[in-house]
Amino acid sequence: MRVLVMQDVSEAGLAELEGHELVRGSDPAGFDAAVCYLVDRIDESFLATPGLRAVATVSVGLDHIDLAAADRHTIPIAYTPDVLTEATADLTFALLLAAARRLGEAERHVRAGRWTEWSFDLLLGTDVFGKTLAVIGAGRIGKAVARRAEGFSMNVVMAGRDRAQLEHALSVADFVAVTVPLSDETRHLIGAPELALMKPGAILVNSSRGPVVDEHALAEALRSGHLGGAGLDVFEREPQVDPLLLECENAVLVPHIGSATRETREGMARLACRGLAQILTGERPPNLANPEVWDRWAARWSA
Ligand code: DGY
Repeated sequence: MRVLVMQDVSEAGLAELEGHELVRGSDPAGFDAAVCYLVDRIDESFLATPGLRAVATVSVGLDHIDLAAADRHTIPIAYTPDVLTEATADLTFALLLAAARRLGEAERHVRAGRWTEWSFDLLLGTDVFGKTLAVIGAGRIGKAVARRAEGFSMNVVMAGRDRAQLEHALSVADFVAVTVPLSDETRHLIGAPELALMKPGAILVNSSRGPVVDEHALAEALRSGHLGGAGLDVFEREPQVDPLLLECENAVLVPHIGSATRETREGMARLACRGLAQILTGERPPNLANPEVWDRWAARWSA
């Protein structure tokens, strides 16, 4: 079958699709299936392509895919849960530590030749050990972040979208880690009112999706000194970053690298491509984002 490959995928990943004709591009016309990444818009018109029967995304996030349209067009979507949980939790915790200890500023200080002598109060940060961490989003990655926090004797408060729970978590935490997926309900879940609820000097970390946090409001909260710092892996308009945020020395900013370890990216590529290969042979893969389409799909394509 003809498979559209929309971004670079590792050899080992593509090997899972051996026997299929793999073509790099972006237009799904004439293809049976597609492998995409989070930067590809898989919308109604893409999913309505005649003959298209399956999509695999090399991501756990699904906000770039119109799942309702996938349901309407009976397109199963293979994705990559679990395999990136630990790497993303590591990066989340790395951002938390980096923001707490001002590592971005400290590095820039050394590289700019501004380090002239040791001093008692140079680049003072804040302790992590024993502090309170609110994890917004109690999914796989949120729980993995909470496990790491236990090693630092942190008091962990988990919160979902329940308003009272969220407000409580924000108001008691020294650190807030945002790990909820992006959806219509979670867009700007953390905006100016929620940032105002956070304790003065608290630190916000976002490793989920940029639009979950109102980036401009966050920049204002950092600039005003209300928040002590932030660690961000994701942004509202990637790869653009709000200019105000770029000016905030107390924000540690990295370019959406939560799952970017060699082992994890390889695992993601293999899992997504294997899932697609399974679909194309009529076998239901374990990593379907929309398992509810499977019976309809099987009835259509096995007929
Ligand atoms: C995902 O898989 O959704 C991540 O954001 C990629 O790192």
